[in-house]
Amino acid sequence: MSSNASKLPWISVAVAREAASIDQRIEVRGWVRTRRDSKGGFSFIEINDGSSMGNLQIVAQATLENYESVISSLSVGSSIVASGTLKASEGGGQATELAADEVRLIGDAPADFPLQKKRHTFEKLREWAHLRPRTNSFGALARVRNRLAFSVHQFFQEEGFYYVNTPIITASDCEGAGQMFRVTTLPLDNLPIKEGKIDNSKDFFGKPSYLTVSGQLEAETYATALGRCYTFGPTFRAENSNTSRHLAEFWMIEPEAAFYELSDNMALAERFIKRLLQDVLALCAEDMSFFDERVQPGLLDSLKLVLEKPFQHLSYTEAVDILLSSGQKFDYPVAWGTDLQAEHERYLTEKHVGGPLILYNYPKTIKPFYMRCNEDGKTVAAMDVLVPNVGEIIGGSQREERLDVLLARMKEMDLHEQDYWWYIDLRKYGSVPHSGFGLGFERVVQWITGMTNIRDCIPFPRTPGSAEF
Ligand code: 4AD
Ligand code: MG
Repeated sequence: MSSNASKLPWISVAVAREAASIDQRIEVRGWVRTRRDSKGGFSFIEINDGSSMGNLQIVAQATLENYESVISSLSVGSSIVASGTLKASEGGGQATELAADEVRLIGDAPADFPLQKKRHTFEKLREWAHLRPRTNSFGALARVRNRLAFSVHQFFQEEGFYYVNTPIITASDCEGAGQMFRVTTLPLDNLPIKEGKIDNSKDFFGKPSYLTVSGQLEAETYATALGRCYTFGPTFRAENSNTSRHLAEFWMIEPEAAFYELSDNMALAERFIKRLLQDVLALCAEDMSFFDERVQPGLLDSLKLVLEKPFQHLSYTEAVDILLSSGQKFDYPVAWGTDLQAEHERYLTEKHVGGPLILYNYPKTIKPFYMRCNEDGKTVAAMDVLVPNVGEIIGGSQREERLDVLLARMKEMDLHEQDYWWYIDLRKYGSVPHSGFGLGFERVVQWITGMTNIRDCIPFPRTPGSAEF
């Protein structure tokens, strides 16, 4: 950028659009969204700099020195710096406009710039993930995602939780679902073999290691020292499911609290979700109106309703009874002891409850080893939070804190004690009841924005067969 920038204050489009700066001389910097010439001998240039959904209108008179040579041919996507006086706008649609006394072209965008005025589908825009943040939808998504991330930290800090960073490379499979990406430096075309098997001792870490599917087990070690902690980091799952709700790389927030039982955990999850909603509705109002108008009509009303009522709670067993007596045709049969499918979850939250729903006490056979066994011998103290349109956004549980029960459960599930020796130690030394959950960050972005595909809720989606950018 040129070094002889004017001395005028450089302000964002968001601030320039507020009437507070009227009659001040300012400078704005951004990218041209539209330009049209008026018969009266001037150009209207709309620029956006990412600070808000709305653009700033710049009025450039034909008397400007570079009007013929530059301004009258400014193309969509070009970057410019404009200075002048901010005025109350005479035209409709905006409160202010900039009466320019200088418009400088910084970077031209030739006519093949893909984001011309024409609207593109979200599928098409995925092919341009490097340019899509310059559209209204993805600008709004980025700002909402940013706000949510900040609120996550604010909420947990205010609740007395410490932010901890758990490892991204790990040797333990927290969820036991075998969906881990292997991390290796072994030469894949010439693997070291010992006694007919791959010699993993030659690998970088001396044993097989993976990208983490969850930071929970490590978070438990900090919760049983700091009392309360949370993680917020990337997690990876090599699930080969090409759905609108699954990513191979996604971000998860995992709070973990000592002396918390399942009911405390459920209450925390509800406060957390409501806080996220409240902040986004209050602080991203313009972006949220866009989603309400363009993406999912009725979105704002349905989100506001969530804030007004307590979340409904249903045990897994009650949920199965409701599904069985619903008279609804499902692709997957419902039976006690089988995992609920997306269609079942969506029936429960959309049709039965019409809002968020917490399901708890799932059969132990469909849940991981660490969940606390209930007295009935059949269920564990698990909880999932389901929301309309998306289904599960939170999965969590009370953890098994009883050493003997944990060991018996691991044996039942064929897990080796030596692989989890440090996790078992937490039960040997000052064990306490404790609980936590994981919130899928992109799932919550998806729910709050009403977007239909999770691939549009993360800047650069990673899905089976696709790791572009
Ligand atoms: O239910 P999950 O598998 O729970 C755990 O990983 C626990 N260890 C969390 C804990 O108790 N600390 O995953 C938690 C959440 C899900 O509810 C979902 O929102 C999200 O992570 N999630 C995914 N999001 C996008 N793509 C995927 N493939 C996801 N898998 C899970
Ligand atoms: Mg789950």
